[in-house]
Amino acid sequence: MRNDAASDVTISVLAGGKSTRMGTDKAFVEFEGRTLLARTLDLARSVSADVRVVGSTEKFAPFASVVTDIFRDRGPLGGIHAALRASQTDLNLILAVDMPFLTRAFLEYLLEQARKAPEALVVIPRFDGGWQPLCAVYRREFAAAAENALSAGRNKIDLLFDTVPVRVIEQGELEKAGFSSSVFRNLNTQQELNSMQAPHLDLQVKLEVTQPTTPATKPYIEFYEVSKAFGEKKVLDGVSFNVMPGETVCILGRSGVGKSVSLQLLMGFLKADSGHVIVAGEDVTDFSEEQMEAIRKKVTMVFQNGALFDSLTVGENVAFPLRETRDLNERQIYEIVDGLLKMVGVQEMRDLLPSDLSTGMKRSVAIARALAARPECILYDEPTTMVDPLMAQLLGDLIKRLKIQLNLTSIVVTHDMRLAQKLADRVVFLHEGRTIFVGTPAEMEKSTVPIVREFLELDEVKLEV
Ligand SMILES: Nc1ncnc2c1ncn2[C@@H]1O[C@H](COP(=O)(O)OP(=O)(O)OP(=O)(O)O)[C@@H](O)[C@H]1O
Ligand SMILES: [Mg+2]
Repeated sequence: MRNDAASDVTISVLAGGKSTRMGTDKAFVEFEGRTLLARTLDLARSVSADVRVVGSTEKFAPFASVVTDIFRDRGPLGGIHAALRASQTDLNLILAVDMPFLTRAFLEYLLEQARKAPEALVVIPRFDGGWQPLCAVYRREFAAAAENALSAGRNKIDLLFDTVPVRVIEQGELEKAGFSSSVFRNLNTQQELNSMQAPHLDLQVKLEVTQPTTPATKPYIEFYEVSKAFGEKKVLDGVSFNVMPGETVCILGRSGVGKSVSLQLLMGFLKADSGHVIVAGEDVTDFSEEQMEAIRKKVTMVFQNGALFDSLTVGENVAFPLRETRDLNERQIYEIVDGLLKMVGVQEMRDLLPSDLSTGMKRSVAIARALAARPECILYDEPTTMVDPLMAQLLGDLIKRLKIQLNLTSIVVTHDMRLAQKLADRVVFLHEGRTIFVGTPAEMEKSTVPIVREFLELDEVKLEV
């Protein structure tokens, strides 16, 4: 809990009632390695000192103080009513447990609007014409209106908004304040859930669930005229390209062209001879090792061999960054590791040693370990080489899913044209120390640059064999 968390607000998280359309309790569904309940409670506790869960005592008592419905099985309105009746404060923020994209800034904004509108019994956002009653502020007095409706057999909450003073926060206003509709995205159906979590799934569903939200203007990563030589050997000779936030760029090129060297320059393991290297929006060209360590918290690299600790189990490998960087108890660590291993599809390998795993599985574990540090960006060096075609496909799907679900910025170094076509928003082609092509995979298909054509044609030959 933050020590500046508000004490004049109660936050009630609706976790039960009729919200379990998925056959399992939504609250315990895992997203990004943590249950929806844990995520929502953490967020709520960063905003208010008084956080409750509305739902079954049996299920939720270990996690927060629980409020149970007075009018049972009446959906969200019943939950809101119970929350308000149990509350000690005038201001009440009601949150659905299944909105993992809400942010503290957004909740604080909502509360600020509520404080500015003392006459309103409900302060509620409306996006794309739809009310967001499960991410709204209610004054305690609203309980009476809710009770009237429920007693009269009416469950529909929207109808009540015509009968009491409401402060509507319209889409335009939200956008002006810097928020997008993505904060309201929720997980409602088994299909949406699968699309967020299953290790192999059909892309169309994924794309419907999440879309990049705000168009970014500043590159997250940039090479500006970067040169690097080893002795006489000039590897990079004035290479420039950039990667926008949330974008996936594939770096292609022949063996020895400097692809891995480029990644090492980004991580600060090597230093450029000239030019500028921008990482996480900062010019890191002259950063000290200490400064780079801060950058490496945001940007992590998945090495070709996984670079796992051989003497630690899979689970302990993934737990490593959690122990290093975050103040978590053993139970929390266990849960996060479990979620991450599930996310990359190797949950049952938890107690094995890296030497027991295939190359592809090692790489999956390395990806889970990279994710444990909650990076903004992942750099992958040849994620699909030296594994069988099925594993290559699974790893490719996994990288694509992470990009979409977590909005991760990524660079993927690869020889694998199919992987580049699957993943890349843009492709950077290196040849003889220079960038000879930058563009989308579709543009690459049409490129007339001879080396690019050669690469494409060789790949076609390979596919035909
Ligand atoms: N630390 C180093 N010291 C000396 N030479 C190096 C060093 N790192 C890389 N090189 C050289 O730089 C060149 C580019 O290497 P790099 O590993 O980036 O190639 P690559 O494009 O990743 O190739 P591959 O596709 O085979 O992985 C190679 O000639 C390599 O021998
Ligand atoms: Mg390499």
